Amino acid sequence: MWIAITRDVSASLAGCQLSFVPRVPIDLELARQQHAEYVRALESRGCRVLALPAQDDLPDAVFVEDVALVFDEVAVMTRPGAESRRGEGASVAPLLASLRPMRAIEAPGTLDGGDVMRVGRQVYVGRSARSNDEGIEQLRTLLAPFGYRVHAVVTHGCLHLKSAVTVVADDTLLVQPAWVDVAQFAGYRLIEVDSAEEHAANALRIGDGVIHPLCFPRTRERLAQAGIDVTTVDVSELQKAEGATTCCSLVLRDLAHPHGD
Ligand code: GLY
Repeated sequence: MWIAITRDVSASLAGCQLSFVPRVPIDLELARQQHAEYVRALESRGCRVLALPAQDDLPDAVFVEDVALVFDEVAVMTRPGAESRRGEGASVAPLLASLRPMRAIEAPGTLDGGDVMRVGRQVYVGRSARSNDEGIEQLRTLLAPFGYRVHAVVTHGCLHLKSAVTVVADDTLLVQPAWVDVAQFAGYRLIEVDSAEEHAANALRIGDGVIHPLCFPRTRERLAQAGIDVTTVDVSELQKAEGATTCCSLVLRDLAHPHGD
């Protein structure tokens, strides 16, 4: 029912972009093992994984979420805000073109997929250091014919909108209120991260459950109490590269096999 596009960890991961976390040594071999576990978690949640080979000259390329947005009707190649990341999309585009009609964000627009959260027909876009007004406006224009409404959202103190808020069920968001004004999400059921788990708002929803980092047990408990099925993965080395669970895949509905047949 789901396809997940992933990319193997780059040998140059330690040279990744960092904005809000300090640079510390990354165990590359452990990062690769953790990424392989993450892929198994995607499979366990019903995804058919299409794994792209590593791009060793592009440190952040494992964070494939940032280079494209995929809706049932269309895929949009983004234009990442960090110049060092602009080459990452070239090998993703042909794969997506076999699955969806394609559109693209053009200069001077910038947009990172990590800034884009879809809830039904509502699309929330973080106006961040990576995603600018021009990129958001282009996305609004591209998605309007398909009935999506784009809302710009201000974030502060975090890399992407999905560092601060993610969808964990149809009407439910997991939020870090220190990084985004939750009044913008009035009408949704909100689950706040535990205050001791600053980075815990990034959960990857697939169907009726989520993939969530192992290191946030208190927030996991809150998700469980809300009736959300949680698969945990240890992504400590990817977190050191300012990544987490949504960043490492592009999850899309498998329109050729909508019922998993
Ligand atoms: N290291 C993830 C990013 O900055 O894009």
